[in-house]
Amino acid sequence: MNYDSIRPTPAKGTVRTLSQQEELPLLRDHLLRLDRASRHDRFHGFIDDSFIRRYAERCANDGTVIIAYFEDGVVRGAAELHPPEQSPDAQPEIAFSVERSARRKGVGSTLFRKLIAEAHAKGYGSLRITTGAQNDAMRALATKFGAQLTFRHGESTGSIDLTEQQQPEAAPAVAAVTPVEAARAIVDMNRAYWRMVMQISGWGRAA
Ligand SMILES: CC(C)(COP(=O)(O)OP(=O)(O)OC[C@H]1O[C@@H](n2cnc3c(N)ncnc32)[C@H](O)[C@@H]1OP(=O)(O)O)[C@@H](O)C(=O)NCCC(=O)NCCS
Repeated sequence: MNYDSIRPTPAKGTVRTLSQQEELPLLRDHLLRLDRASRHDRFHGFIDDSFIRRYAERCANDGTVIIAYFEDGVVRGAAELHPPEQSPDAQPEIAFSVERSARRKGVGSTLFRKLIAEAHAKGYGSLRITTGAQNDAMRALATKFGAQLTFRHGESTGSIDLTEQQQPEAAPAVAAVTPVEAARAIVDMNRAYWRMVMQISGWGRAA
């Protein structure tokens, strides 16, 4: 697959993978700069600083790959590739955030391309993305890269099949899936997501 033909890297910034431990503050500060609505979209309703700090710390320690977009040495966007061990069905989860000042310039698309290349290099067969059903920007970005989204209870969740050799923009925007498949995807997603949220919030720490 040649995703680089989709759109050139933004002229102003650069993209590279963060080193996990040392560059944690760069990811954390980027996430803390997100405005209230963006935090809501990114973290499915969780918006407080302490949650974001714990989340960034966890990413630095659990094998999550962070691909960052830099402008003048500051991280203005990030793509997260979470390791498959975090999901009950061993499907790696991905997430994106771009600060408002850097949006609609292809940054999200550039990060997505790099993330897919990284996932290929790791030998992953598919990726899962979850976002709010009203999140037009993320839905547009995900479908552009071939995600097959299903909708339920205010959330969209979808898979990107990395074994398919089709141009991502030729992929259907919303795939037809059976109700059983859709329900299973949502249940799996919710299980993984809420387990992560409970751990970061400290609710499940005794276990
Ligand atoms: C989703 C997000 C990462 C997109 O980043 P971005 O840098 O603006 O994305 P791009 O500029 O590469 O745009 C990607 C595509 O989405 C489309 N798009 C972007 N914003 C859109 C919007 N608000 N409505 C509709 N389409 C939109 C673009 O037109 C583009 O499509 P095209 O290449 O066919 O023109 C960014 O809006 C964001 O960080 N949102 C807050 C956090 C969030 O919601 N994360 C998702 C949870 S994982």
